[in-house]
Amino acid sequence: QLYIGDTRGRTDEYRSWLLALLRQHRCRSVLDVACGTGVDSIMLLEEGFQVTSVDASDKMLKYALKERWERRKEEPFDRWVIEEANWLTLEKDLEKPGDGFDAVICLGNSFAHLPDFKGDQSDHKLALRNIASMVRPGGVLVIDHRNYDHILATGCAPAGKNIYYQSDLTKDITTSVLLVNNKAHMVTLDYTVQVPPTEAGADPELSKFRLSYYPHRLEAFTALLKGAFQGKCQHTVLGDFQPYTPGQAHVPCYFIHVVKKTG
Ligand SMILES: C[S@@+](CC[C@H](N)C(=O)[O-])C[C@H]1O[C@@H](n2cnc3c(N)ncnc32)[C@H](O)[C@@H]1O
Repeated sequence: QLYIGDTRGRTDEYRSWLLALLRQHRCRSVLDVACGTGVDSIMLLEEGFQVTSVDASDKMLKYALKERWERRKEEPFDRWVIEEANWLTLEKDLEKPGDGFDAVICLGNSFAHLPDFKGDQSDHKLALRNIASMVRPGGVLVIDHRNYDHILATGCAPAGKNIYYQSDLTKDITTSVLLVNNKAHMVTLDYTVQVPPTEAGADPELSKFRLSYYPHRLEAFTALLKGAFQGKCQHTVLGDFQPYTPGQAHVPCYFIHVVKKTG
């Protein structure tokens, strides 16, 4: 299912941060493991990176495939690899080139889409192990999630402008938390966004949609990540693209983990 959130562009802040990070780590080849319609992948192709994009949803990939076809005369787009792959079977679904990719990205709060059906996070661990296995030694994994610690503590997403997307939200996001055995199991966010009119001169329409996520807490997710690299990594966490210190005054909307594979 395609939802309107995937058609929005990134902010300049997001773009410059990601490009600077990849250049700082001297990355050339990038695997986007949750490419969706291709928002991040296209941005990186336009900057000359060598991009491989995967997603479990063929409906989402259709948009990326269309873009690749329309821009096939541009060299990076002509070389763009797009495959259908699931994080849970990634090693089987995608052939790893040599030692792996210089960078693997999983952005836009994507990983939180994976539910914890078994209740023991074994699927999260398997998916992260598979994703980490695609990073070459010395390469980086960049993966993010919303600030679920704040959502669980307060019942709402942090206020403030969305630094990720060029926001077309017309209303604050409404949040609900589902508890299973007294533990937060799922967070549901209701969005109301403005959709561009289909005909010239028509009024913009409102679209409402609901998405459910696994609420990853910062500390627990950091531990899962380190486990996925068997501890052979250097881990840094950012809040809304800035260095993050627990307890700081600014409450970030998003946490972004940068994990460098050392072994
Ligand atoms: C929020 S969208 C993000 C897409 C894009 N990165 C962005 O920020 O716009 C999350 C994507 O993750 C994909 N996804 C969810 N579970 C997946 C899984 N188990 N394996 C691979 N992709 C998955 C969905 O199909 C969806 O396209």
